[in-house]
Amino acid sequence: MSTLIIGAGLVGSQIAHILVERGERPVLMDYAPQPEALAENVDLSRCELIEGDVLKPFTISQALVGHGITSIVHTAANPLLTLGAQRDPWSAIQLNITGTVNVLEAARVHGVKRVVVSSSNVLNHFLAGGEGKGDSADEEAYPRPTTFYSATKQAIESLGLNYARWSGVDFAAMRYGAVFGPWSGRGGGGPSNIVRGALETALSGDEAAIPTNSMEWVYSKDAAMGTVLALDAADLGSRVFNITMGCVVGPEEFATALAACVPGARMKKGTPAASAVSMPDMRCVSSLARAQKVLGYAPRFGMREAMADMVGWIQRTRA
Ligand SMILES: NC(=O)c1ccc[n+]([C@@H]2O[C@H](COP(=O)([O-])OP(=O)(O)OC[C@H]3O[C@@H](n4cnc5c(N)ncnc54)[C@H](O)[C@@H]3O)[C@@H](O)[C@H]2O)c1
Repeated sequence: MSTLIIGAGLVGSQIAHILVERGERPVLMDYAPQPEALAENVDLSRCELIEGDVLKPFTISQALVGHGITSIVHTAANPLLTLGAQRDPWSAIQLNITGTVNVLEAARVHGVKRVVVSSSNVLNHFLAGGEGKGDSADEEAYPRPTTFYSATKQAIESLGLNYARWSGVDFAAMRYGAVFGPWSGRGGGGPSNIVRGALETALSGDEAAIPTNSMEWVYSKDAAMGTVLALDAADLGSRVFNITMGCVVGPEEFATALAACVPGARMKKGTPAASAVSMPDMRCVSSLARAQKVLGYAPRFGMREAMADMVGWIQRTRA
């Protein structure tokens, strides 16, 4: 019995850490593994790290058969997420949709017990339309995603739910808030890098940029915990789960948390223009009721606890 984690980055490394700490030996697969960054988050001597491309279906099959895989967590994503998909839609569509279908097909063919994929809370925020108010006779019955990235996430949720319905694949999708956490490698989304940048800048004594918009965040360790809970749940019942901090964090709360973790921090408000598309003003709080009820998920890190943990990590790894 073993878990295959596809995508060994910000979130994948934390999922591996949780599994390793409870005595499992997960297999981490990435098309461009970053062992140095990974080793800061997980003991690599206690997992397998293999090179493999989710766009090559036989590579996935080989990993499943070669390592006796019984569950898959799929976290591979296009570089810079929303921002990256706006710049290069075709590549993001290939990776996010075709890549996920390759995983679901491999699971179907090889009879893998469960597949958990990373979706995103962009599906709770990057929406427009829906004037038909759910009336299926109306062309505009439902709101539609407003970015390429959110359109790919909607597609993979819908495809996964149909694999569950028609092909016996036990599927779950995790809608993470904007994730940040300990990770010194490439990857993550625009917002992930903004939080790390703000903390590193404040620690160095320079003026840190505070996002001007309100965002729903989740610490990478909580995103990973929610994902592992979905791997473990005896009966999923529901298949799509919000995994966030459970609140919206505005510029003032962001600044207060940062000041508490880096006393005397100097700050200015400002979201880099290039990141604006990935940081809309998020006004509603995604409900955690289902994740709490079905998975037993409750965030352990608010903004302040997450930043404090991250400051500790920056100080340890940069010492
Ligand atoms: N970071 C965020 O703010 C955020 C928010 C919501 C949802 N998500 C989702 O969570 C998941 C994990 O995000 P992350 O921040 O850990 O990303 P990340 O960029 O840190 O990690 C993704 C990993 O996927 C790998 N990868 C890319 N293409 C691949 C391929 N063809 N085959 C195999 N591996 C490949 C990359 O090398 C990278 O290591 C993604 O699905 C992302 O869309 C992330």
